[in-house]
Amino acid sequence: MADLTTTYLGMTLKNPLIASASPLSASVETIRQMADAGVAAVVLPSLFEEQVELRDLGIHDAAQANQAMLPQALQHIPEMKEYNQGAGGYLAHIYQAKKAVNIPIIASLNGYYSGGWVQYARLIEAAGADALELNIYHLATKPHVTGAEVEQMYLNLVRSVKDKIRIPVAVKISPYFSALAHTAVQLDQAGADGLVLFNRFYQPDIDPETEQIIPTLDLSGAGELRLRLRWAGILAQYVKADLAVTGGVHSGLDILKCVLAGGSVAMVASALLEHGVEHISTMLSDLETWLDVHGHEALRPLHGKLSQPHVADPAAFERANYMHVLKAGFLGGY
Ligand SMILES: Cc1cc2nc3c(=O)[nH]c(=O)nc-3n(C[C@H](O)[C@H](O)[C@H](O)COP(=O)(O)O)c2cc1C
Repeated sequence: MADLTTTYLGMTLKNPLIASASPLSASVETIRQMADAGVAAVVLPSLFEEQVELRDLGIHDAAQANQAMLPQALQHIPEMKEYNQGAGGYLAHIYQAKKAVNIPIIASLNGYYSGGWVQYARLIEAAGADALELNIYHLATKPHVTGAEVEQMYLNLVRSVKDKIRIPVAVKISPYFSALAHTAVQLDQAGADGLVLFNRFYQPDIDPETEQIIPTLDLSGAGELRLRLRWAGILAQYVKADLAVTGGVHSGLDILKCVLAGGSVAMVASALLEHGVEHISTMLSDLETWLDVHGHEALRPLHGKLSQPHVADPAAFERANYMHVLKAGFLGGY
């Protein structure tokens, strides 16, 4: 069997498949099942900045730091406080997950401004998390806030979390930046040990009957992987940070594509919610079979083999792909 070992955030992992943050990692029992099925590490569901007691953790700093953003965050405190067992329960969950399995446990903080709440990263480290995923989930909806200001906010948050803890920090971002390569390099220089590509924003729907805006959560489709493959393939050459691909990883072959593009790891949530956690072993054995059939003894040498600088036609990652698709008539008569 081919050797699937990889490294991510300074950790040696037995394979490149990580269970990304989802309700599956909210229970120690499911974490154990995922570990038994072969997953190399688990990301816990996020603790949201809205859940952390800002008053105790320096709300005044936060208020000074970003008046425009704060009220929106505060609005959700009452409803978010008990989500995922609340902030205190989250620490207990890290501790119990660590005790239950012998694979790395990556905690997740979800927020967008660097206020006092980031002190919580220290407690997460103290509770035993092997690494922290910082999910920066921000929609830039205010016309007076510029792209540069948003990016600065990201950098401030990363620096401030990195300042507080020694465990590695991966930053989960969305693809919605006007100059993503520039932003990625900035995050890398701010100290991100990993970049997780990409957040999926759940888009609300509209119900014309009730005239309500409906929060909606769709699981991903395999086609969503391509956006991630493209950007992993482009960014791998520019950043020291490890790349993790999340969004549309559904099969063993998808894991392989992530690695070929330059990802150190592939993360999965939707496929497990759809097919059950035993799908992990199917994905891993399909990956092993592919490597065996193609005569590869290890996955590692394939890392980044099809990233932008290593392919025969680097322009295929860029605008040229668009021209090619149109010219080659992929639209079948349209
Ligand atoms: C029900 C559900 C809950 C999720 N909760 C979180 C979360 O708490 N924090 C986070 O960073 N991502 C969360 N995600 C996003 C996943 O970790 C993952 O990045 C995303 O679903 C894309 O991967 P997939 O295509 O394998 O689903 C959640 C996804 C789902 C489906």
